[in-house]
Amino acid sequence: MFETSYRLPQSCVMVVFGASGDLAARKIAPALYNLKAENRLPADLHIVGFARSDFSTDSFREHLREGLKRHSRVPAEEYPDAWARLQEKTIYCRGSYDDLSGVAGLRAELTALQGAEPGRQNRLFYFAVPPDVVPGLIDHLREAELLQRRLPDEEKQKGFHRVVLEKPFGHDIASACALNATLRKGLEESQIYRMDHYLGKETVQNIMVLRFANPIFEPVWNNRYVKNVHITVAESDGVGSRAKYFDSAGALRDVMQNHVLQLLALFAMEPPAGMDAAAVRAEKSKLLGALSPLSPEQLRCAVIRGQYGAGQAGDEKAVAYRDERGVASDSITETFVAIRAYINNWRWSGVPFYLTTGKRLARTLTEAAVEFKDVPHDLFAALEGKRPDANMLKVQVQPEEGIALRITTKVPGLQMKLSTADMELPYSSRFASQSPEAYERLLLDALAGDPSLFASRDEIELAWRYLTPILKFWSEQAPPAFPNYAAGSWGPIEGKDFFREDVCYADLEPLQSGGEPA
Ligand SMILES: NC(=O)c1ccc[n+]([C@@H]2O[C@H](COP(=O)([O-])OP(=O)(O)OC[C@H]3O[C@@H](n4cnc5c(N)ncnc54)[C@H](OP(=O)(O)O)[C@@H]3O)[C@@H](O)[C@H]2O)c1
Repeated sequence: MFETSYRLPQSCVMVVFGASGDLAARKIAPALYNLKAENRLPADLHIVGFARSDFSTDSFREHLREGLKRHSRVPAEEYPDAWARLQEKTIYCRGSYDDLSGVAGLRAELTALQGAEPGRQNRLFYFAVPPDVVPGLIDHLREAELLQRRLPDEEKQKGFHRVVLEKPFGHDIASACALNATLRKGLEESQIYRMDHYLGKETVQNIMVLRFANPIFEPVWNNRYVKNVHITVAESDGVGSRAKYFDSAGALRDVMQNHVLQLLALFAMEPPAGMDAAAVRAEKSKLLGALSPLSPEQLRCAVIRGQYGAGQAGDEKAVAYRDERGVASDSITETFVAIRAYINNWRWSGVPFYLTTGKRLARTLTEAAVEFKDVPHDLFAALEGKRPDANMLKVQVQPEEGIALRITTKVPGLQMKLSTADMELPYSSRFASQSPEAYERLLLDALAGDPSLFASRDEIELAWRYLTPILKFWSEQAPPAFPNYAAGSWGPIEGKDFFREDVCYADLEPLQSGGEPA
């Protein structure tokens, strides 16, 4: 096996803002526990949970432990030592985010842990708080000198000060640029780790290995051989407990801007010169910058939005989006969006990329699929029956991780009959080791100072530059005829040929009260 040794992060204090919230208990605490169990963390990593809620250190530790029990990849009871060692270095600090005095208690705790004298003070500030809290809180931390601008070279003498930010990174191009400008006032870009947990998933990282470690794929990875590419992030779930946030955001902002466009960038970018963050980010940015701006005609015909009505979620009945708790009864928020995108460069000119995401779809599925063109001269054209489907390569990220290649083959027998067969590589059966959770990988990278799998400022702004015209176009239209797909279906494009370039589905029919499209 060919592998890199993983850097053990240096000792540091990790401060989690919003430590009372869902993310801290569901993702951050289990990730820390699993890393600890695998001896990936330094012995003197201190965790400081910071929030306004009324916890003591003991009750906070118990709160995290509950999170582990419910959400950890490795059962919470399996490594009691790991948890014991982690929790003895975990404390809770109660304070407000709104003013400088709110972080006074944090200053005292950090001084107690790291000393008041400037020295090597490694700090990772994890912002697990709503996005509007972030800029003010960063200002207070800077005013209190808890968080300082540090160039990469300075880190060697003074230690690192890093921030991990959670999406959303703005809600359009203007707000994303404003947020980045605020961050830039006090921090170097190298100090900012923007989390997109999709980039921490095994199969997503494997896209690069597949493309750049296998010489058989790269020669056909272009408009000569590729007919189209489908990138799909489908969820069978509804909005659940995130209704309030989702109703103000929608599928385009919640998933398309980050997960889908990040998958697209990895799938279609040019080979980077190296695996370092700068080289990979530069290629991803170039690709996002080459997305063909959507013309008024494409905005009308090549972008489809939808919202689910009542229907099925597995064996259960599902309510319409507008009947979900926390959603306005006249909401026009999209729960589905599909874009036919093009990339203006030599490699991809003319190849449609179908980008789709939605909630309450037929099943949960994240995959990128390349459909290859037919052979230039079909020797088997005279055979009777339907021609088998084209070659297809699928990289599946969720729910099962794996790769499948569809090839055309002869059906055994005396007659010449063609069929397709899938060569499948499900990770779970091929590799004995369990995939780490995306948060484990990304947290470890942030602690170790490797930003390769975090989105850069340029990537965020280029993604918004591409998508903001859609938001503007929608805001100028009459309210859409929602709901327009039944929960449990494949969305408003089901049964319609969205994938034919000569067809425009600008005016999709609303659902009838029974749930069926009109
Ligand atoms: N949960 C996820 O799976 C997930 C996934 C992707 C991204 N994110 C992002 O990660 C961040 C944290 O997510 P979360 O789910 O943990 O959020 P959350 O539970 O709503 O909030 C986390 C904590 O932030 C504090 N807070 C500060 N100001 C607040 C305000 N105005 N309203 C509500 N809470 C406030 C609260 O703690 P105190 O009241 O105790 O101070 C709360 O417990 C968000 O930016 C979210 O968009 C979350």
